[in-house]
Amino acid sequence: MLKWRELYEECLQCNKCDLGNKRTNMVFGDGNSRGKIVFVGEAPGADEDRIGLPFVGRAGQLLTKGLTALDLIRENDYYICNVCKCRPDNNRVPYENEAEACLPYLRNQVALIKPKIIVCLGATAMKYILGNDFRITRDRGKWIERKGCYIIATFHPAALFRDENKKVLFWEDLKSVKKKYDEIKDDKII
Ligand code: URA
Repeated sequence: MLKWRELYEECLQCNKCDLGNKRTNMVFGDGNSRGKIVFVGEAPGADEDRIGLPFVGRAGQLLTKGLTALDLIRENDYYICNVCKCRPDNNRVPYENEAEACLPYLRNQVALIKPKIIVCLGATAMKYILGNDFRITRDRGKWIERKGCYIIATFHPAALFRDENKKVLFWEDLKSVKKKYDEIKDDKII
């Protein structure tokens, strides 16, 4: 397992898949690396690629607005990153080889943070974190405990622009995350 600086340097130099050749910026992650919650999205979009930070575009702003309303603040309460650290062309879903090449970096980040809660944002994050047996429409909003970590999936915030009906469920899921966070945030290790 690499330490933060080594991991960051390795990601900066990464050319394990074709996305590395086309990126403007590698989008490593942002927020509190000691936070108890990690949000995981799919891959950077155009704004994220340009700026170098995750979830800063339209979908990210919607997510941030919802989390702020629940008093969950990026700098204090959570870390946010993606399955892939480089932008796929036209925001397509990352190919399996691209996601698999990038996953060790995400695993290393999670191992360093040791979060109590992981939130998968959308089907791609759900697939690579929970596995192929899960379906976003069927299984979102359900808590799954693995190795002492609570994992939940919800819709990707970009999906809310395509289907207004998802907003209510998305909001319910964020509230469920906040509730779980309030339950565990003062837990002591010993
Ligand atoms: N969508 C994602 O999945 N991640 C981002 O960082 C931005 C948009």
